[in-house]
Amino acid sequence: MDMKHLIPIFVIFFFFMSTTSASVALAPSSSDTQSFSFSKLEGDQTFSILPTDVDLKLQKICGETDYPIECLTTTVPFLDENVAIIPVSILKVEIDAIHNKTKEAIDKAYEFSMNPSTSRLLPLCLKTCINNYNAIVESKQRIVDAISIGDANELSMELSHNMEHVFACEDEFKEAKIKSPIAELNSLLVKIITNSLTICVDMIKF
Ligand SMILES: *[C@@H]1O[C@H](CO)[C@@H](O)[C@H](O)[C@H]1NC(C)=O
Repeated sequence: MDMKHLIPIFVIFFFFMSTTSASVALAPSSSDTQSFSFSKLEGDQTFSILPTDVDLKLQKICGETDYPIECLTTTVPFLDENVAIIPVSILKVEIDAIHNKTKEAIDKAYEFSMNPSTSRLLPLCLKTCINNYNAIVESKQRIVDAISIGDANELSMELSHNMEHVFACEDEFKEAKIKSPIAELNSLLVKIITNSLTICVDMIKF
């Protein structure tokens, strides 16, 4: 694990340590099964944290991804208890999460483009982002089909394209020297897509 990955985990760790309880509920109405207790675990990494009262199989799957916290927070609330916790079922939930977060990003981008802006370039950047997000939304059916026929090449190609679409959106703001108003969602999207690629490439035996 390099520093790029370690830093957000430190931040998250100290954030939770600084709250009165080490447990965090994912949703206001969440039941006990949706509460995480974070604890420090010894592992082959010098320092890692993983929720301890989450399904062990899910902990193992998410633990092998680059962004375990995002893997858990985007899947735990959406796991049907009748669904087997195996990499392919987690991948399907992550694909749904990518779809939902992309739609959220489209809404945000529209919202920002309606606001009177300090930069005349902002609406242009947002327009590119919306086009890229739409391409991600359109890829969902191809991804679902690729999973169902077990086409790992198609699947990783579609996911890689989606990642490029998100990076290209952020690059628009960089080039225009504008602070990205959707950096947080884009960062989350990149993390979920990265995790999906890891699950698809390293964990599923197609
Ligand atoms: C995605 O959104 C749909 C519709 O709002 C919802 O039913 C589903 O649980 C969401 N899934 C994820 C993983 O966010």
